[in-house]
Amino acid sequence: MMRSCICGSKKCEKEAPPGNAGYFGDKSMRMFEDPFKFIQTEIETLNSRNFLTRLALKQTIVLAEHKLIKHFLDNCMQDFYNGLKDNYSELFGDSIVFADANTAIKLREILLPLFHTDILHNYEASLQGILEDWAAELDGNIGLNLYEEIKQLALTFNLEIFLGIHHKDDIELLQEFSGYSREHWHGVIALPMNIRIPFWGNSGYSTAVQAKQRLLEIIQSRYTAKCSEFMENLKDKKMPDDSIFDHLLLFSCALIPKAVGAILSVFFELSWYYKPYLSKNGEIEDGILERILLEIARMYPPFIGGIRVASTETIGPHDCVGRHYSWRCIINIARFILKKFDLTATTEIPVGHFPAVKYLPCLRPATPTLFHLIHRSSYPE
Ligand code: HEM
Repeated sequence: MMRSCICGSKKCEKEAPPGNAGYFGDKSMRMFEDPFKFIQTEIETLNSRNFLTRLALKQTIVLAEHKLIKHFLDNCMQDFYNGLKDNYSELFGDSIVFADANTAIKLREILLPLFHTDILHNYEASLQGILEDWAAELDGNIGLNLYEEIKQLALTFNLEIFLGIHHKDDIELLQEFSGYSREHWHGVIALPMNIRIPFWGNSGYSTAVQAKQRLLEIIQSRYTAKCSEFMENLKDKKMPDDSIFDHLLLFSCALIPKAVGAILSVFFELSWYYKPYLSKNGEIEDGILERILLEIARMYPPFIGGIRVASTETIGPHDCVGRHYSWRCIINIARFILKKFDLTATTEIPVGHFPAVKYLPCLRPATPTLFHLIHRSSYPE
């Protein structure tokens, strides 16, 4: 007899994919250690590109066949909800990420204008100021981990734009907020997907929930004091205050800067890729820089995937609202660093080198190359 499809629909004629989703066979750790190896091994063992397994303690179907993924995205989205909701809504509150169809569509209409390309240039002076001040204080003789440097720069930029925490005038608050964001983030990664396993200590998680409260208090006081244009624009949209605070928490959390740091650290690690296009004074044509960065983002996407959980509810299309915002940020940081500094890796990077990567919390080189950043202005004319 044919095994019926796991979707449960009587009308569905598809056969269930092979595999095992037994309760004690959770494969989350294997999956998140090295997703490509895990998926490749399962495909070979089960002789199928689509298979059943258990991830995050749930029966899961992994689709690795392009046609089926397309079919799923085109036709089946109404039967699923964002699986991250089950584990993360307590830490991130009630935002667009977890919203149902109608709410998500309304929230998109509200949020997208705040990230419209026309207003992104208003933010560029802030980023430039942050980068100039960072460069002025930098000791380029020390080997620098560019992922860590850029992650902090991107967080500083986000906090200045979204919460009006100025990188020079509000240093203490910036440090306080960064510290709580770290604790908040550690709760997210306390376990991959924050699986609540009985008897497993969850102190990282409760610290994160407390950190979230502190972050929300800071956000609320900044909001009341009308500290940023972004918050004022959000206020005009007449959203409920709690929803505004949850969205500001999402926008200023530690996750987004990690993605910016990840893409750019791969970019600098693959220096052999952009160097042929770099002029003597560190300039690179905008179109070429953008195409190289796009290719890096394609080959090394910071987040390895989303999760959808089957339900009878419907959802609308979800997509990143900050795409243009972070893209401008990434391009500007890349252009600034190339123009300002001559970068020398502390260990030689051969042409054609592709770094081994790790996947959590976001995809990036497993062992980052350190760089000396020498000010171009220190060279004799
Ligand atoms: C390089 C930086 C970024 C990357 C790689 C990235 C990636 C993503 C991805 C892959 C999703 C879809 C998740 C899914 O469908 O399950 C997403 C959604 C989202 N992103 Fe981003 N993002 C970045 C920056 C930002 C920024 C700067 C913001 C806002 C300040 C932002 C806000 C959002 C929101 C609100 C959603 C949910 C949208 C919805 O569910 O409709 N992202 N992002």
